[in-house]
Amino acid sequence: MLRRVLLAASASDRIRKIITTAPYTRDVVARFVAGDTTDDVLATAGRLLAEGMLATVDYLGEDTTDPEQAAAVADTYVRLLDALGEAGLAAGGLAELSVKPTAIGLGLPGHGEKTAAGHLARICAAAAAAGTTVTLDMEDHTRVEATLRILAELRPEFPRLGCVLQSYLRRTEADCAALAVPGSRVRLCKGAYQAPHDVAFGTRAEVDRSYARCLRLLMYGGGYPMVATHDPRLIAITHAQASLAGRNLASFEYQMLYGIRPAEQRRLADDGAQVRVYLPYGRDWYGYLVRRLAERPANLAFFLRSLASTR
Ligand code: FDA
Repeated sequence: MLRRVLLAASASDRIRKIITTAPYTRDVVARFVAGDTTDDVLATAGRLLAEGMLATVDYLGEDTTDPEQAAAVADTYVRLLDALGEAGLAAGGLAELSVKPTAIGLGLPGHGEKTAAGHLARICAAAAAAGTTVTLDMEDHTRVEATLRILAELRPEFPRLGCVLQSYLRRTEADCAALAVPGSRVRLCKGAYQAPHDVAFGTRAEVDRSYARCLRLLMYGGGYPMVATHDPRLIAITHAQASLAGRNLASFEYQMLYGIRPAEQRRLADDGAQVRVYLPYGRDWYGYLVRRLAERPANLAFFLRSLASTR
């Protein structure tokens, strides 16, 4: 309930202003975001890689309404790939990219899908040249069809292009079955957006059960599962399903968000698993931060205390 209210309220310009100008917001942002600049994210990615982890870098921003802004985001990703390559962090997929379709134009009226596909192709070509991969983030349920169409359009040329599927959506089991094919990279998460009851499961238990079913399809399928969760029960289930499916530790990976359960990230890596940390950076952190606050009441309580101090 609290989550739903917060996600809905986040669309208000007034709330955005209060949150982005509160004095202690930077402290909360710093927990989840790896800095404002490319240098910041390169430093964090370099540290994680030196510690034996992998990274996926997200240049923050979403819901772009300006074609020039969409092109600028794609340019930033291409420059980021150059920088990752020069720092020796990209080859072999050590650090890859995560891209939100609406940041590169999916929401533009009329030609959004074509624009986003064009920018993504440019980013994928640069990623392939740098020896790494790209994964398409999945946004709210109204974007799923178009995002999967872009994936299908580009995969023949860029077979390592991956995508996120969200277990809170009723359709996702079928999407997992369709995408559990050789060469296909699928990042499975629970889903961080709001959706109506006819398209999404309503309770945590249903979302978790759906996650377990989807995971099973991916583990027994021919693709490369990327298990994006911090949930201890689902991590234990992943371990069990991977052994039952006869998978070795190189044939799938765990993924977690920067700043969330870092000790668990370390434990899994120390046990020999591949662990990729999702590293967001940039100044447009508002939407990302609100989703992280909405996921956990304790985060919200901490944040509300910082707002109270503005009075
Ligand atoms: P759950 O929410 O049940 O959390 C399990 C435990 O993890 C909690 O008990 C707590 O300990 C810890 N935890 C989780 N969230 C926390 C937080 N915000 N702060 C502190 N602790 C927290 N979603 C989406 O809709 N589209 C996408 O493209 C992506 N991409 C993505 C990539 C990666 C690598 C990850 C890990 C996640 C995403 N997500 C996402 C977000 C995802 O949908 C989901 O909202 C969060 O991962 C939280 O769900 P969990 O599976 O961790 O379980």
